[in-house]
Amino acid sequence: MNITILKETGFGECRVAGTPETVKKCVAMGASVSVEAGAGAGASIADSAYAEAGATIADRAAAVAGADIVLAVQGPEPETLAGVKPGAWLIGNLDPYADRARIEGYARLGIDALAMEFLPRITRAQSMDTLSSQSNLAGYRAVLDAAHEFGRAFPMMMTAAGTISAARVFVMGVGVAGLQAIATARRLGAQVSATDVRSATKEQIQSLGAKPVFVENVAGIEGEGTGGYASEMSAEYQKAQAELVSAHIARQDIVITTALIPGRAAPRLITDAQIATMRPGSVIVDLAIEQGGNVEGAIAGEVARRHGVAIVAHRNLPSRLAADASALFSRNLYNFLAAFWSKDAGRPVLPDEDEIVRAVRLTQNGRIVHERLLSQPAQA
Ligand code: NAI
Repeated sequence: MNITILKETGFGECRVAGTPETVKKCVAMGASVSVEAGAGAGASIADSAYAEAGATIADRAAAVAGADIVLAVQGPEPETLAGVKPGAWLIGNLDPYADRARIEGYARLGIDALAMEFLPRITRAQSMDTLSSQSNLAGYRAVLDAAHEFGRAFPMMMTAAGTISAARVFVMGVGVAGLQAIATARRLGAQVSATDVRSATKEQIQSLGAKPVFVENVAGIEGEGTGGYASEMSAEYQKAQAELVSAHIARQDIVITTALIPGRAAPRLITDAQIATMRPGSVIVDLAIEQGGNVEGAIAGEVARRHGVAIVAHRNLPSRLAADASALFSRNLYNFLAAFWSKDAGRPVLPDEDEIVRAVRLTQNGRIVHERLLSQPAQA
């Protein structure tokens, strides 16, 4: 049973899907582990550290050819997996909606592709949840990126030269990333407010010492939508939200947007006209940029400037904290393998009827098997 950890090839991707800690644990479970040379470099992990943990260092072709299970952060291009054994598994954040042709490529190679972002949000899956572990770090990093662009301090300071007032931070979208953004901005001493379409978040916002700003008198998503996610809101709600945001945003120094709807483009929350009402020197961080962005004028991978306001839209925020992001991602994947590990078989076994298995398995026996992908039209 060989587990292979690939070197990531995605643009700017510094994370890695295994660390010396998880290599050791896999070896202790009875697996052998191969690591592609240089796989940990972006996360400051030397090949020698993997070797000390019990891994064999290999070039790409040898690592792929020997693999029963391939671990990756992002879905690799199928061509780079040529020579893989049919029936081998590929586990990672495979971004299944983005590139259907890539998933079909895995099927053609006979790979069983397992997409971790499709994990159900149930208690048993929490320790495997890569979306949560990475979103948490992204929320933290978004606040630091905002602070870096902001020409003022976050906390109130009373000095001999006079008083500096606390920065006002508004967080839009209070999922995992938004909650961490609130907590981080509070730790830095800012006055924080936050909004979401899910009314269940009101209490969470308050418990972190922030002020909830909510659309009243128009139905939001009471409790939680499917699997705890938001769905697209009515036109009436969107209008009421735009009015509320317009009134609030003009008084903010920093706005951090994290709003996402699974499988759809990110909702537009801030228009150029609203940005024009903000004080020059204010900063907006758009965490939803890879799904199209919440903010008009945001440019993926850049800091755009409109009306004196910086719009920060870095791609792949977790990769900007590559060491911690890799440590958590790797533990998520290890926890998945460990949960399904069969001592008798000496390998993990995935029961077809298991809720987690059904949710993450994209391809099997040379074809796409996932309901959500099958119900989408194939790409030309
Ligand atoms: P997400 O990344 O899909 O979306 C971020 C936030 O944006 C969500 O809170 C969503 O309600 C909000 N949003 C969407 N449209 C909006 C709009 N128009 N205006 C304002 N906000 C908008 O969310 P994430 O972080 O993946 O969390 C989704 C849910 O899953 C949450 O309820 C979270 O607590 C839950 N969860 C449960 C876990 C478990 O039980 N194992 C693990 C992780 C998350």
